[in-house]
Amino acid sequence: MPKDVKSSKKQGRLFDFVRASKGNGPEDARIRELEELIRYHNDLYYAKGTTEITDEEYDRLRDELEGLDPENPLLGEVGAAPREEAGKIEHPVELLSLDKTHSYEDVVKWAKDVDDFVVQPKLDGLAVSIYYEKGHYRYAATRGDGRIGEDITENVRYIGDVPERLRADATCHIRGEIFMRRSVFEAFAGEFSNPRNAAAGSVKQKDPRVTGERKLNFYAYSLVMEPEELVRIEEMLTGNFQGFDGIRDRERGLMEMLRLLGAEPAEVVRSDLASLPEVFERWDRGRAYDIEFEIDGIVIKVNDLSLQQEMGATHHHPRWAVAWKFTAQQASTRVSGIRWQVSRTGNLTPVAELETVNLAGANISRSTLHNADEILRLGVNVGDEVLIERRGDVIPKVIRVLKKGSREGPAEIPGICPRCGAEVEKENVFLRCTNANCSRRILKQLVHFADVTDLETVGPSLIEKLYHKGLLSIPADFYRLQVEDLLPFEKVGDVLAAKIIRNIRRRRRLPLARFLTALGINHLGEVMATAISRRFRTLDSIRNATREELVDVDGVGGKIADAVLGELEEKWSLVEEMRALGVVIEEVEGTGEEPGEEESGLPLAGNTFCITGTLERPRKFYEDIIRENGGTVKGISRSLDYLVAGEKAGSKLEKAKNWGVKVIDEDELMRMAGRTEEGQGE
Ligand code: IVH
Repeated sequence: MPKDVKSSKKQGRLFDFVRASKGNGPEDARIRELEELIRYHNDLYYAKGTTEITDEEYDRLRDELEGLDPENPLLGEVGAAPREEAGKIEHPVELLSLDKTHSYEDVVKWAKDVDDFVVQPKLDGLAVSIYYEKGHYRYAATRGDGRIGEDITENVRYIGDVPERLRADATCHIRGEIFMRRSVFEAFAGEFSNPRNAAAGSVKQKDPRVTGERKLNFYAYSLVMEPEELVRIEEMLTGNFQGFDGIRDRERGLMEMLRLLGAEPAEVVRSDLASLPEVFERWDRGRAYDIEFEIDGIVIKVNDLSLQQEMGATHHHPRWAVAWKFTAQQASTRVSGIRWQVSRTGNLTPVAELETVNLAGANISRSTLHNADEILRLGVNVGDEVLIERRGDVIPKVIRVLKKGSREGPAEIPGICPRCGAEVEKENVFLRCTNANCSRRILKQLVHFADVTDLETVGPSLIEKLYHKGLLSIPADFYRLQVEDLLPFEKVGDVLAAKIIRNIRRRRRLPLARFLTALGINHLGEVMATAISRRFRTLDSIRNATREELVDVDGVGGKIADAVLGELEEKWSLVEEMRALGVVIEEVEGTGEEPGEEESGLPLAGNTFCITGTLERPRKFYEDIIRENGGTVKGISRSLDYLVAGEKAGSKLEKAKNWGVKVIDEDELMRMAGRTEEGQGE
């Protein structure tokens, strides 16, 4: 590990510093070196919300330090000092860390003769402590160094899962993890290297509304309450909620209490010692396919609270809980090329092409390098041997260079767009092609437009062919296509061509939010497009809105407002062209306020849905149907109205059945939404 520390500039300085500080021998020097490294990585992780090494590598540093100097005070510290500029909050009850193990053998040693545990996934996000006073949200703070954290009160308020009021007048600290689902992270993959960093970065935004836009989630995992308060609240809940049978002396009871108070706990499984490997494996398998968020292990807690008390804690971690970490899925391979992809907004993203390697059952031949800075940081170039890591089903990432190939230093960062040769400009860490007519951008825009407006019969490869034949260059061209235009293409016969054209014509009525999203305005996603549409109701009034009026819409910041106004103006002739070709942009009816559930009159209004398993069409298709018809898409929970389950639905289906959540299939969903006459397409 120190080998590549030397190769990084920033760490190189650190290394020199360590070298310079004199110890009493090689062992002492190594201890100082390890201290510095651990501090450096603590600070990155806890204070800046990023990482440069894997958890395993970090653990190895700590283990080595523990081997050389078991009493080293650094081993007892949790986290790092908070950011200087942020407000600070002292935690009245310290947030401890968790002891880690990597094997069942170690778990057995830890358990001694205890045989009743609760197990939860170890969520890989940002730990937060939220204080409620008599049921009212008062403040929220990051863990920081365990004693003092950063004040993130305003930001956390904007996270949907965090209740503003509890369902009882409890005074307590609710602790848990803020995280970003993988599906949400996809949109931020260029900006952050993993969902945890994206969650941390989103929470630490200056403008809390930006935090709100990021669709973060929160799961609770611990409840800190005075003993008398616990008794009082328990009695109240026992009286008010059927089935809550006063299990205050069990960890499981505390988790149940959290749920009744309105803070969803991370899933809880009860287990004896012998079943723990099975539970571990189930979660490990699940994280690749089933689980929508990143987990890096399981947390095993002693269920009996009085036993917890007896076992107590060290200054670093409680003795009644342990984290059993998954082994990361890593492999080494060689970089055979670095390609720059152009996005629809012109961002250039480097992709490493790899010699195919098998990683936990999947063949990996590509990996994102995120941005130009990442290439420089890694120092990676074509021909290098690299370590890659796959977490769950997220695209694998290059962790570090293991061995340089023949090319010195990092790969060259292009000064011109590799697709069209236009100049490239730098915006923060992003490179961007300045040519609005760059062929790659145009193609991506066309694909985006077709995707958002449900022109599913014109897929990316047909779009590309039509583009090269000169039949498609702006979205309006879709509505100009004729059956004859399609016939020359291989595999497109009369019937299919007619069907494609009919489908395009049928989809000319577009709800305002959908149309706005389809235009592909920079920074403007579906959620904000919907909020803006609800406020202004017609495209013309959005165009005529002032920047201030736009920023007034909840969640819309200056960046989005500028993009909307600027790009709408640029694209106005395109809009008029489309209108002339029969495109109808539907007005939003109502008062311009958010519609209430009942008054919206939509068939799915007021209902919540979660989707799982393999469905006939992409998941996004059904999500759109749900949202368009007034429903809400959510994660799995007891309060859900419907679970839409496809084939191979796994643990969510089991849970829904256990909880009595209604399970439907996609046909039923289509019927409920009144969409049966359109059929299921192919
Ligand atoms: S229980 C005193 N449960 O992992 C510890 N922690 O690496 C009680 N974490 O500090 C915490 N998922 O921030 C607990 N299901 C879970 C967790 C969890 C993630 C975090 C927590 C902890 C850190 C240790």
